[in-house]
Amino acid sequence: MKTIIEPFRIKTTEPIKIISRKEREKALEKAHENVFLLDAEDCCIDLLTDSGTGAMSTRQWAAMMLGDESYAGSRSWKHFESTVQSITGIRHVLPTHQGRAAEAILTQTLIKKGDVIPNNSHFDTTRANIEYVGGIAENLLCEQGLDTADQSPFKGNMDIEKLEQCIAGYGRERIPFAMITVTNNSGGGQPVSMANIRAVKEVLDRHAIPLIIDACRFAENAYFIHEREKGYAGKSLLEISREMFSLADGATMSCKKDGLANIGGFLICNNDEWAEKFKNLLIIREGFPTYGGLAGRDLEAISVGLMEALEYDYQVYRQATVRYLSQKLVDMGVPIVRPAGGHAVFLDARKMLPDLPVLHYPGIGVINALYLEGGVRGVELGSVMFGRFDDQGREHPAPLELVRLAFPRRVYTQSHFDYLGEIIEEVWKNRGKIPGYRITYQSPFLRHFTCHFEKLAS
Ligand SMILES: Cc1ncc(COP(=O)(O)O)c(C=O)c1O
Repeated sequence: MKTIIEPFRIKTTEPIKIISRKEREKALEKAHENVFLLDAEDCCIDLLTDSGTGAMSTRQWAAMMLGDESYAGSRSWKHFESTVQSITGIRHVLPTHQGRAAEAILTQTLIKKGDVIPNNSHFDTTRANIEYVGGIAENLLCEQGLDTADQSPFKGNMDIEKLEQCIAGYGRERIPFAMITVTNNSGGGQPVSMANIRAVKEVLDRHAIPLIIDACRFAENAYFIHEREKGYAGKSLLEISREMFSLADGATMSCKKDGLANIGGFLICNNDEWAEKFKNLLIIREGFPTYGGLAGRDLEAISVGLMEALEYDYQVYRQATVRYLSQKLVDMGVPIVRPAGGHAVFLDARKMLPDLPVLHYPGIGVINALYLEGGVRGVELGSVMFGRFDDQGREHPAPLELVRLAFPRRVYTQSHFDYLGEIIEEVWKNRGKIPGYRITYQSPFLRHFTCHFEKLAS
């Protein structure tokens, strides 16, 4: 087997620099030990997110020049609408400026206080949008998804029995819709099988509950179905995507992921009544329904990007990159989520630092150590992001303490990943010196973005 090469060559470059360790220490201190508050220029390999950080293709840049900036009914809107419809088969398309805007319109239109929204795992913005309107966000991930060492092929699947219990427990009338997130970002970027989406739909149909797909990484999920699920090897990623969406009543999408664009999103549905309500809120919040907070040129870039994300060679290269780094880490003995997810490598910080109490945030310890060691920026997906407070104000940790190193699309080359491997190796060797942290400032929603940390004495 020959090396899987990047299926592109580089036409434009963007400089990165490596600042000294002393400068990194200063920068992190100034950022209150929270890497979200660092200047991007001070991060040499920025793996904070795969969202909106990708490189666009020549075809996308060319399409941007064709952007029609008419306020209403632009050519670019037609292109966007027909592309989304051809991939999803879903009738009503509402463009939004990003995924959480689609979530806000969905939740503020359909959820009443006390309603319950099941999902395999809610992403943080989805949970926040649900809780903001008084809803309850239930995670019903399969057991394998909670075991970072389990090698099952579809660890993003929803647990069907938990779904049945959730519906029986809360009652159908409290569940205006259910969601399934493909791939499952919060649980390690793990895919969801077609069989599981079908099984979820069957249960929901019995109770007349609509299904909304959180479709941010639909193309990566389609690739995993192609590779791992019986009966799909002969189908194109477009055909697989169509089948996935045929099981849904609607979807939210952040085009900053599998739209291969730097901004954008959409909300889609088949229900005419919902579409009417969504449109009314869209006009107040985002803009006229044929641009929805996006420029005509963005609509063009997304339309091309969505189709490029479904190119098989692109997905082969992308997943090879993820596997390349994860294999290096497995060889070093670093505990990671296995098999590797679609858009990131997830380090298991709890296993890396077993002696650190979970509420001393081992994920933050590892994140900050990576930055100090080599200017690498990742993100904690653990108790800071997903921890919860009970009625007495007691903090409960998240089930997993993960550190996500998300891969921007078409941005870094193999030598960047080799460097990354070296930095992680150093951190792993010196893990005994990593301190715990406590929070000194936090906001009531999505605290991880802005909170301040203080190092605890070891
Ligand atoms: C699964 C999932 N849903 C929703 C979102 C929100 O999308 P956006 O960042 O475009 O608002 C994200 C973003 O990372 C995500 O990963």
